[in-house]
Amino acid sequence: MSKISANELRSKYLNFFKSKGHTIIPSASLVPEGDASVLFTTAGMHPLVPYLLGQEHPGGKRVTNVQKCIRTGDIEEVGDNTHLTFFEMLGNWSFGDYFKEDAIKWSYEFLTNKETGLGLPLERLAITCFAGDEDAPKDTESAEIWKSLGVPEHRISFLPKEKNWWIAGTTGPCGPDTEMHYWIDDGTPASREYDVNEPKWVEIWNDVFMQFEKMPDGKLVPLKKPNVDTGMGLDRVLAVLNGQSSVYDTEIFKGMWEVLALSQDIMTNDEVKKARIVLDHVRAGVFMVSDGVEPSNKDRGYVLRRLLRRAMVMARMLNLKDKWLEALVGKVIAEYASAYGELVEKSEQIFQVILAEQKKFEATLEKGLKQFELRIKSQESRISGTDAFDLYQTYGFPKELTKELAVQAGQVFDAVKEREYEEEFKKHQELSRTASAGQFKGGLASHSEKIVRLHTATHLMNAALRQVLGENVWQKGSNITEERTRFDFTHGQKMTPEEIAAVEALVNDWVARDLQVKKETMSLEEARNLGAIGVFGEKYADTVSIYTVYDPNTNEVVSREFCGGPHVEHTGVIGQFKVQKEEASSAGVRRIKAVIE
Ligand code: SER
Repeated sequence: MSKISANELRSKYLNFFKSKGHTIIPSASLVPEGDASVLFTTAGMHPLVPYLLGQEHPGGKRVTNVQKCIRTGDIEEVGDNTHLTFFEMLGNWSFGDYFKEDAIKWSYEFLTNKETGLGLPLERLAITCFAGDEDAPKDTESAEIWKSLGVPEHRISFLPKEKNWWIAGTTGPCGPDTEMHYWIDDGTPASREYDVNEPKWVEIWNDVFMQFEKMPDGKLVPLKKPNVDTGMGLDRVLAVLNGQSSVYDTEIFKGMWEVLALSQDIMTNDEVKKARIVLDHVRAGVFMVSDGVEPSNKDRGYVLRRLLRRAMVMARMLNLKDKWLEALVGKVIAEYASAYGELVEKSEQIFQVILAEQKKFEATLEKGLKQFELRIKSQESRISGTDAFDLYQTYGFPKELTKELAVQAGQVFDAVKEREYEEEFKKHQELSRTASAGQFKGGLASHSEKIVRLHTATHLMNAALRQVLGENVWQKGSNITEERTRFDFTHGQKMTPEEIAAVEALVNDWVARDLQVKKETMSLEEARNLGAIGVFGEKYADTVSIYTVYDPNTNEVVSREFCGGPHVEHTGVIGQFKVQKEEASSAGVRRIKAVIE
């Protein structure tokens, strides 16, 4: 019997912060609104960025929520004791209101108080604070507050930026954080000091003190009013509170395990990991579909497809019985019915979309796996990038899945193979561009050509705005449809008709000059050094892709942005660019709608 259920934990958290003057707000969608630069909401702070930058929140200066999140950056680790692609983040927020003192005091109270909070024993808690560097000083202030509340000095460590600093991506609101770690309840006493390499210390909560806005040129500009962003992972805390060593052992997953009809006691570690991947990926898939995502070959749709197909392959390896997916989807919906009513409302659509994807993939899954086996067994033809592409195109195997299967079979799927795959992919895209729509084998739906042209036009507009209005222009969000591009950027006043005309003229000049567009992959640092412009809110990996628009004759660079693409290869194909509307979006942020003709 669990000591506390997920529903109890959600309401306990929200009510605690309500009692401290916070307004309870609902979770935003997993699909970020008005920001085409990120695929999914990856943290509680993501939908709240405008408010962290000074916009007024309708709920006031203190709000609290449980936010649905998706992170696929750690997908390799999913299936261990703590990693998940879908998770919920409990959070409390101060928009220029309270700061370190109250945030830490309330975190402490909620964690340790038996009546108002969770009643966790202090002996099992450890705290980390920011160690300080050239950007900001050592956060002794937070450490002193923790000490004044009774946390012993030896349980407070100072760690560098990689650990105790938070930013969503490379630009935007950021600052030092203080993290709370819990020594899992396995009967052993906690070590005297926190040890970052000790898996028994599990991070359960993070209080971020957002004091700066990081600009794409790397500069930190102090925010007018500092904010607090906190994030507590619901699954982790639930496991900790109930004495479970894995997030997959909580009551949330209990019914889902039953559906799989597997007994963990007689499974190998590898089988347990596969089963956990099935549970995690299907749960994430259900939530994605409920927020309107459908499987496809690009962007969010591709992530969903990849998760569902990976789950299906794992399920086959585990010999799950027929109808396992249908039953599991039903269990996920039932488990979250009271906390996320949208799952019940959309249940018909969820079943339909997920089962259609199963039907589609199962038609080729067996054959694809056989092909894979054949190719892997034959000495001469080990899995190549071209094989991986064939498996994708003909049998619908996402590249990452083939790669994983190859690695499991003891093969290397290195950068050379990755390149081979990409080349095949590109060749295919070129072929498909010349073919009429809908004729491609395997249904490789490329981005619509109009959207791709508008996308490159948007990069040019961004560069033109910075030339005309100055370097204070930063992209805040964008959204592109077949009809138009919508672009939000920082700028204090309405643009004059002359400024708008100048932006149009610049873009159209670059189009007329038929500049080259190239994509390069490089380290984040290199990209920064080249002055690439980041897009607000994106969490960039260590290796990033950069699009540069340049004049091949003079090497003049007119635009260089962090971007996943796709883009046109040369600007001549874009067409005539025209601004349709320029209006206010929010305080200090303007919005342009533009078209190409
Ligand atoms: N933004 C921080 C995180 O995601 C705290 O919410 O960890």
